[in-house]
Amino acid sequence: MGGSGFILGIESSCDETAAAVVERGTRTLSSVVASQIKTHARYGGVVPELASREHLRAIVPVVRAALAEAGITLADLDAIAVTAGPGLAGALLVGITYAKALAAALELPLIAVNHLEGHIHAVLMKELPLGRSSFNEAALALVVSGGHTHLYRARQEKEAWNYRLMGRTVDDAAGEAFDKVAKLLGFGYPGGPWIDALARYGNPKAVPFSFAQIKQKVHLGGKPPRTKAARTAPIANLDPRFMFSFSGIKTAVLRYVELHGLRDEARLRAARLFAPGAEARPPQSKEEALELCPQNVIDLVSSFQCAVVGDLMKKSFAAAESLGARRLLVTGGVAANRELRARFSAEGARRGVRVDFPTLAMSTDNAAMIAAAAWGRFQAGEFAAESLSADPSLALGTSCPGGRR
Ligand code: KG4
Ligand code: ZN
Repeated sequence: MGGSGFILGIESSCDETAAAVVERGTRTLSSVVASQIKTHARYGGVVPELASREHLRAIVPVVRAALAEAGITLADLDAIAVTAGPGLAGALLVGITYAKALAAALELPLIAVNHLEGHIHAVLMKELPLGRSSFNEAALALVVSGGHTHLYRARQEKEAWNYRLMGRTVDDAAGEAFDKVAKLLGFGYPGGPWIDALARYGNPKAVPFSFAQIKQKVHLGGKPPRTKAARTAPIANLDPRFMFSFSGIKTAVLRYVELHGLRDEARLRAARLFAPGAEARPPQSKEEALELCPQNVIDLVSSFQCAVVGDLMKKSFAAAESLGARRLLVTGGVAANRELRARFSAEGARRGVRVDFPTLAMSTDNAAMIAAAAWGRFQAGEFAAESLSADPSLALGTSCPGGRR
């Protein structure tokens, strides 16, 4: 046993194989991420079977690289932390099986971490001083990624963190909408960075997208939401003011594209960029953007992003206000978005709510956030049972009936 508070984190819930060493939940000694983007890009989304295969290939070298980068050996570790869910079953199992074997061989405790809690800790690890956990006030956390759009109240009690679900998407996650719109226009996968890069050159008011008010649907009472994300509270138990729906805007973009005959032109130009063997990267200038697609498509993309960010903001700040929370933690892949960061920060300043994001590298999936989230549990001696297995729809915390405190 190391005794220095070094935790090895392992993450394999989706399409990144990641390992990291974090000291006492805050100081990142190493964070290695092997992305499978190239494998999945040609399919325009993650193919679960391919993801498992790639994790199997990458897990050993990625863990070795994380230890080497941290300048430590297995003997220096105090615990192993692994993502137990939510995510793809086969993908999760690769990380869990490997972490279990390593923990058993080294006689180290194994800590199971919820991927969503990991994303929240990607922000918290920036905040908390080394080895000290002091975060007295409740915060509102928005986890916004390719699989999730969830609002939680996060509060620390001694070492443990408590989460209460306040709202969530009833269908697609925000990142999924970014990916689907990008795919529709022929851009690369994942689509978020492409839309982020293009949107700044367009007119965000060109296409007036709107979000319908989500009603409490009595007929859905007791049924889980229609989404592949975490198994959580039935829709009927949550406050409709804090619920999201992104499948409508995706369809609205599709209609607009078809109505204005934009599809072929956008795809044609994109096809040139994505010629076999070409290394496509999002445009870095207005000229490059115009090479990729016509101005009206850029305007459409800009309007889409503006509407999605606006909806995320409206509901997040409303939920924070309902809790009296003075802190907002915005995390997950979509939290890397430039417009989102700028607008959330400006609105936070206006309302006197402190808004924090992870570093850009920690916004998307990584294992440092998993090792960081495990620290409190390590201190509390909360270790995983030998029977630990993957839970593709693992829920985080409790739910908040009617959105009340
Ligand atoms: O957190 P993450 O790496 O994986 C999940 O847990 O889903 O998030 C990936 C998602 C993808 O949908 C991707 O398109 C989106 O985050 N994303 C972005 C940006 N960077 C990544 N969305 C908008 N703007 C970005 N800059
Ligand atoms: Zn994630």
